[in-house]
Amino acid sequence: MTSNPYFVPGPHRAEKVKSLFDAVAGRYDLLNDLLSLGLHRHWKKRLARMANVGPSCRVLDLCCGTGDVTFALSMEGAAVVGLDFSPRMLEAARTRTRRQEQQRRGASQGTVAYVQGDALRLPFCDQTFDAVTISYGLRNLASVENGLREMVRVAKPGGRILVLDFGKPDSGLLRRCYGFFLRRVVPILGKLSTGGTEAYAYIATSLDHYPAQHGVAETMKRLKLENISVVNLLFGTMSIHFARKPLASPDSGAGRTPAQKAT
Ligand SMILES: C[S@@+](CC[C@H](N)C(=O)[O-])C[C@H]1O[C@@H](n2cnc3c(N)ncnc32)[C@H](O)[C@@H]1O
Repeated sequence: MTSNPYFVPGPHRAEKVKSLFDAVAGRYDLLNDLLSLGLHRHWKKRLARMANVGPSCRVLDLCCGTGDVTFALSMEGAAVVGLDFSPRMLEAARTRTRRQEQQRRGASQGTVAYVQGDALRLPFCDQTFDAVTISYGLRNLASVENGLREMVRVAKPGGRILVLDFGKPDSGLLRRCYGFFLRRVVPILGKLSTGGTEAYAYIATSLDHYPAQHGVAETMKRLKLENISVVNLLFGTMSIHFARKPLASPDSGAGRTPAQKAT
């Protein structure tokens, strides 16, 4: 496993991650296009379609970054809230969404609102959303399990939980080639476009510590989610997890935030 100044396990993890995304916000979209040859756009649209939302749906897109998935979900007609803790990423999201809305005036679409907040302590009541999505965000949280727990808490009974992120291919050879790409090639491309290697070397380090396809599915099972499925993309180098919150949810205290519940 590699070390990286932006990956600090424990209480300071979030602070470092936030500083990383504030630093790369201006070039984030360009680098995504470059590193995935534009494929990330298809994967995000696929995630939005799998969420199966429509005009009467309320959707939460966590770790929304510059708003790709938030906007794609709104194009399905839903009322979408994008949440992120990086002010610079949110600024980029608001600017892009305004531009996209102007370009698509007249096309059927829902609404978009952006909120600054922490994915591990969501400022929403229990059972608020028909679907909760997170794209390339779960891997960055201090606790994958607590992140999923918060997603489940704010989802309505029967609500959809969707996670898109980097994956770990089952094939050992492919995993080694992919590891080489993430550890050697990505940081160089990051340096050429942002001036620093460490911000993009962070992807490989964070993936080393991420449970990926099998571990995320296991955690979903532990949280008693239903209809769990994993879609591997590009030979498992990426994946989408889908799950449903049970209709009869074991959790209680609907309508209260965790802070309210503690009182
Ligand atoms: C790799 S970007 C993904 C952005 C976007 N969802 C996408 O797919 O392009 C990860 C985002 O997660 C945000 N993030 C990381 N940890 C967070 C947390 N605890 N709470 C809220 N946002 C967080 C970062 O600020 C960053 O914008």
